[in-house]
Amino acid sequence: MTAPGTGRLDGQVALVTGGGSGIGRAIVDRYVAEGARVGVLERDSGRAAALARDHGDRVTVEIGDVRAPEAHAASVTRTLDVHGRLDAYVANAGVYDYSTRFEELGENRVVEGFAELFETNVLGYMLGASAALPALRDSGGCLIFTISSSGLYAGGGGALYVASKHAVVGLVRQLAHELAPDVRVNGVAPGATLTALGGLAALGAADRRLDAELDGIDRHIPLGFVSDPADHAGLYVLLADPRDSRFMTGAILPSDGGLEVRGAARRPKGAR
Ligand SMILES: NC(=O)c1ccc[n+]([C@@H]2O[C@H](COP(=O)([O-])OP(=O)(O)OC[C@H]3O[C@@H](n4cnc5c(N)ncnc54)[C@H](O)[C@@H]3O)[C@@H](O)[C@H]2O)c1
Repeated sequence: MTAPGTGRLDGQVALVTGGGSGIGRAIVDRYVAEGARVGVLERDSGRAAALARDHGDRVTVEIGDVRAPEAHAASVTRTLDVHGRLDAYVANAGVYDYSTRFEELGENRVVEGFAELFETNVLGYMLGASAALPALRDSGGCLIFTISSSGLYAGGGGALYVASKHAVVGLVRQLAHELAPDVRVNGVAPGATLTALGGLAALGAADRRLDAELDGIDRHIPLGFVSDPADHAGLYVLLADPRDSRFMTGAILPSDGGLEVRGAARRPKGAR
């Protein structure tokens, strides 16, 4: 833990959606370690309780669903009431389609799957950004969006998930364009990460968790391992820290073990 007064985010306040688990939880832990106070919007009450237990009054949690506008209004209001300002808003809560192939979806499941996944992964980000913007304009703060390597490449999810993350890339770029020079907007694009990332209730997959299904994925990653949530957290510190990223907006930082450089050649026999 960083000593008080020496963190990179001393005096700053952040709000993280889905901060109870996985990448969001690692961001909350790291932000607190860097001196920030943090609001969280999270739908799972057990994970919310764990945050309160582990971080005391440095973290405030609003229990709610990112698909509901009123949940965002409540979490921003609570963060401002308790912590007095908002400098960094991290839209992060998401769900996965477990690579369900497009042809397997059929018309009904496309409609239901699209609603659940896009309302969480895209609408949830838009609603959060909208609720946070007045406070971010006041502070000269920033928006940070968790994207995915599926925002840049095909094959890491199905059509629903890959399309949703490509949509978030567009959202980063358009909001960066519209909000400059007042609010910086950037994204982080993690690759495979050991988390409890859940599936879609609409596809009967609400109880699946990704970390149980990543065996063998390391073979497809140039750096040869699957990441932990904490492996990405420093990038969220960088993007929230105006000293180190004040000239960055519209940027998307990959944190994926080198998917860009997998190359066209077959890997030599015996190579991982
Ligand atoms: N795990 C990976 O391999 C991976 C890779 C790239 C990107 N991502 C992205 O990272 C983000 C975080 O996912 P994670 O992997 O840490 O999964 P996770 O399930 O461990 O964490 C997501 C958190 O969001 C919460 N959440 C989900 N839906 C919600 C809703 N509707 N309202 C409020 N809270 C909700 C969950 O309760 C959970 O605590 C997602 O946007 C995901 O797409 C994950």
